[in-house]
Amino acid sequence: MSGRRINLGAPAALGANGVLRFTTCGAVDDGKSTLLGRLIVDAGAVYEDHLAAVAKASVARRPQGEGLDYSLLFDGLEAEREQGITIDVAYRFFTTANRKYIVADAPGHEDHTRNMATAASNADLCILLVDAAKGISPQTLRHMRIAALVGVQHAVIAVNKMDLVGFDETVFARLAQDMSQRCAALRFVSITTIPLCATSGDNVVHRSPSTPWHKGPTLFEHLEQVDGADVALAAPFRLPVQLVARTAEGGRLYQGRIASGRIQPGDEIRIPHGNRTARVARLMSIDGDLPEALAGDSVAVALDAELDIARGDLLCGQGPSPLLTTALKVDLIGFSEHGVVKGRRYLLQCGAKTVTAHVKAFGPRERFDPTQTPPTSDPSADLGLNEIGEATLACVEPLAFDAFSDNRFTGSFILVDRATADTVAAGVLRGAAIEGQGVTQQAMAVTKASRVAMHGHKPAILWFTGLSGAGKSTIADLVEQKLHARGAHTYNLDGDNLRLGLMSDLGFSPADRVENIRRAGEVAKLFVDAGLIVTCSFISPYAAERDAVRDLVAPGEFFEIYVDTPLEVCAARDPKGLYRRAYSGEIKGFTGVDAPYEAPQAPELVLSSATQTADILADAVIQRLLDAGVIF
Ligand code: ADX
Repeated sequence: MSGRRINLGAPAALGANGVLRFTTCGAVDDGKSTLLGRLIVDAGAVYEDHLAAVAKASVARRPQGEGLDYSLLFDGLEAEREQGITIDVAYRFFTTANRKYIVADAPGHEDHTRNMATAASNADLCILLVDAAKGISPQTLRHMRIAALVGVQHAVIAVNKMDLVGFDETVFARLAQDMSQRCAALRFVSITTIPLCATSGDNVVHRSPSTPWHKGPTLFEHLEQVDGADVALAAPFRLPVQLVARTAEGGRLYQGRIASGRIQPGDEIRIPHGNRTARVARLMSIDGDLPEALAGDSVAVALDAELDIARGDLLCGQGPSPLLTTALKVDLIGFSEHGVVKGRRYLLQCGAKTVTAHVKAFGPRERFDPTQTPPTSDPSADLGLNEIGEATLACVEPLAFDAFSDNRFTGSFILVDRATADTVAAGVLRGAAIEGQGVTQQAMAVTKASRVAMHGHKPAILWFTGLSGAGKSTIADLVEQKLHARGAHTYNLDGDNLRLGLMSDLGFSPADRVENIRRAGEVAKLFVDAGLIVTCSFISPYAAERDAVRDLVAPGEFFEIYVDTPLEVCAARDPKGLYRRAYSGEIKGFTGVDAPYEAPQAPELVLSSATQTADILADAVIQRLLDAGVIF
């Protein structure tokens, strides 16, 4: 041990070289946790009680008693220890005389790319582990690509397990050169290659006697001196507002964590969607008033004038303004095996702001994993798991953000599936896409309200969803007849019929089904705008698209009617002979057979056509409309 003081987990003052945030990348057995454990132990002292606990667990995992398992210093959770893999991001803090370190230990397991991206998005430096004996793993390459995408500045190529290749210089040189070439295209600020052995500690902190040919630094020497210039501090002031609170005196306090820059009382504050400014009247933390606050601090800000500020808004300081637009140019990394589907409405979360957004178009894409099939060149296909691609997004309301190249903190976002709440992609914002053709809404003199007033009933969308052959069209037809008989003004949109005309360019791929329902919803909305009751019969297998149609009209105007007929019953009815053809494999991607149907979670009405006649079910719909006051 070198005698340097190391505090694990203890808060520390910044050393002369400031903070360095780093993360480790590589496959599950490339030796990441072992390397980090070794680094900390050899660089100084670990608290005795922590070491004791690790020693105990080491014995359990290595019955042959090979000594300390350094990876256990970094494998925080019991469950992970039992599995022998790290499954979440573990943050650790330590300090040396020189600087403070924040380590995000990202998991190497294939399924956890998402955690790796999370860890890397806050890191200044990444250690890319390569197993000297096995060569470069696909995970290392993918992680390298993600690290570069999320703005990591410095890459360290750590060729580990050099003992297994007899500390052979040529093996190291070949791997280091191969990795350096791949890194060169990725805009890292620096790339450093180091031969090491984590288990024995060669070139981790101490110089290895086995690699006299290595003229570069040890890993620790490099970490101690690399430039960790705190980019978050240098960027303009940005505070995403997480909460607006009221003070006892009736003033407002804007609370959140400073994403970048610094502020003091008296500083000028702007918001992107307003042209007025105010000054910071008070700056507070839970401990009281502050003379200054920096990136990373959680604060409450009081202003000397009222600006129209709500949760999710971005408070900005002087200097360049953020961009404010609904059309975004982005790079996406796919995190979901279900893909990111063009046209589907997702929740985009950027800072404290959430907006509904969809992919308008995909650009070129890559898949940095040689073990997987090459990426598709079809720009309309979904963005698959672990694919990286350019895309244009459209948001329903303007988003304030910075280009990622200016500010990685306000220039990145995630996309969340509305139905499952899964994170389906992470992205970085490249800039504003050119907006449509400068199209704006035209105001018309005859309004929806004036049209509605002439009909004697309220407008509504009756959205029948369910499997093919469930009885949607039959029931919708009866409902329309009954409404017609009552003098209501109606129209009927039917999936099969529209596919003969308006939708004739669409098939049954997930992306086409998304587009099918988007168009059907937009048309239904026009009929509602005209004051009509419109029945719509579409399988509409995805909850996200049905929810998107619901959002197109006013509350109370959308009725999701689930025609809940078991698959066996639909297949036995088989009115068009399609189930027979689907089961024989002649038709592919048939809903319920080899394509999914997501049943509604909270429909306005459920109809069971297996046990009731269509006429009784149509009456149930009419009754529901009477109850809701759509018809009288
Ligand atoms: S949706 O899935 O995009 O909502 P839509 O309701 O418009 O589908 O059309 C469904 C109709 O198309 C079915 O009733 C059936 O007649 C026909 N069809 C042809 N191929 C398929 C398929 N692969 N899956 C489902 N329906 C299909």
